Parts: sequence; C-alpha cells; structure tokens
Amino acid sequence: MTPSAHPAFVRLDVVDSTNDEARRRAEAGAPHLTLVTARRQTAGRGRRGRAWVSDSGNLHCSAILRPDCPLDRAGQLGFAVSLAMAEAIGPEARCKWPNDLLVNGRKVAGMLMESATPRDGRIDWLIAGIGVNLAHAPESTEFPATSLNAEGLRARAVEDLLDAYADRLATWIGVWTDKGFAPLRAAWIGRAHGIGDPVTVRLPHDTLRGRFAALDETGALVLDSGGEPRHISVGDLFFG
Ligand code: BTN
Repeated sequence: MTPSAHPAFVRLDVVDSTNDEARRRAEAGAPHLTLVTARRQTAGRGRRGRAWVSDSGNLHCSAILRPDCPLDRAGQLGFAVSLAMAEAIGPEARCKWPNDLLVNGRKVAGMLMESATPRDGRIDWLIAGIGVNLAHAPESTEFPATSLNAEGLRARAVEDLLDAYADRLATWIGVWTDKGFAPLRAAWIGRAHGIGDPVTVRLPHDTLRGRFAALDETGALVLDSGGEPRHISVGDLFFG
C-alpha cells in the first residue's frame, strides 16, 4: 500500500479532551498527521454531546488532518481512521457503520470527527478523535460496550497500540490521497458487521428501519425498507 508522511505524536498526561487540545493546536498551525494523545481525559466527549469515560488504561487519541478537499469528501477519512485502528487491534475487530469498532458484537472503540468551518467549500483542518476501551468499558450504555481485556485479546500497552495505529493511519491516508475512497470502501466492507442484516438507524429527527443493503461509493449506508433505497450519511446504527 502507498506510504505517506509519518505521524508526529504530542503525548500528554491529563487533558480536558484530546479533540479540544487538537483543535487548539490545529488553530495554532499544527501540521497534518499530528496525533494528540493523553493518558486520561477530564471532559472526554462522544458523539451527539454524550460524555466519553476516559480513565487511564484506555486509549485516547485525536489526529489533526489537513486534507485538501471539500468537507463532504473529508468525512471519508473516518473510514481510514477506523480501518487503521481495526488493523492495529487485530482480526477480531469489526467495523460498525459509520466509524465504531466492535469485538464479539460489542463496542470497543468510537470516533468523534470535528472540522473547521469550511471556507469556499474547503476545510482547513479536520480532527478525528478515537477512543479505545483497552482496560475498562462503561456499563449501561445504549449500545453494549466491552474492552479488549474483557474479550481476552492479547494484553497490549496503550503505547504499542498507538504506534501500530499511527503506522496504519499514515498508510490508509496515503491510499486515500493517491487512489480515492474505493480501496477504503472495499477494505471496510471486508471487515463490516451487519451488512445484509435488519437494522434501525436513528437520525436527528427520525428513526428508520430496514435492511443494511450496502455501503455506497461515498460511504453512506444504503437502507432498503422496501421502496426506493435511502442513502444515509449520518446516523446512529442499531442491529435488529
Ligand atoms: C462515540 O462513540 O460517541 C465517540 C467517542 C469518541 C471518544 C474519543 S476519545 C479521544 C477523543 N477525545 C474526545 O473527547 N473524544 C474522542
């Protein structure tokens, strides 16, 4: 696969949120592929304003990316991030649309993507924050969660997982830059959980049910509910 610039790490002990720290650094000019990590977050954030439990022993990392493309294409980099972390974890990690990772059907990693306000349709920076439950997982989450330790995967230090992730991320971003989304889409489908299965997709103002028919060529979920298939770019996915 195509090589790319190697990531540079900013390693912190405690921070509010690595996404917030990455945004501050992006606004101050930090370069493409800066990876901000912290042992612990005091205000870790998940999608839709949810809190993300961020104790020491888990992985918290936010990548500053500066893709030269419109915002709608930049969202495809979320697939590079989830593929990179899935490969770093190992063959047990499966991809849940759009950007979560599962082991044995339970969530081990989630991603929060944030971007600068586009100017002339293009973005200055994109932050892709990923949290992986290595040692601990929250209880009573809406989608069941687990940790790599609880699933009995090979015990690994956070630093080892970060190094493997950084390496794979540089590769996948290089592939995307040189060849576009198609190879990422194919690799993601090869690791996907639930394609072909009945699903529920929660949108901001609606809940849809149907069959997860495909991932389209932009990264949208194709939902077949009997009529014209719907292409959904943003939503929360549940199985069944
Ligand atoms: C989700 O599944 O809701 C997304 C969780 C994203 C958590 C990561 S941990 C590193 C980065 N910093 C944050 O505050 N959030 C992301």
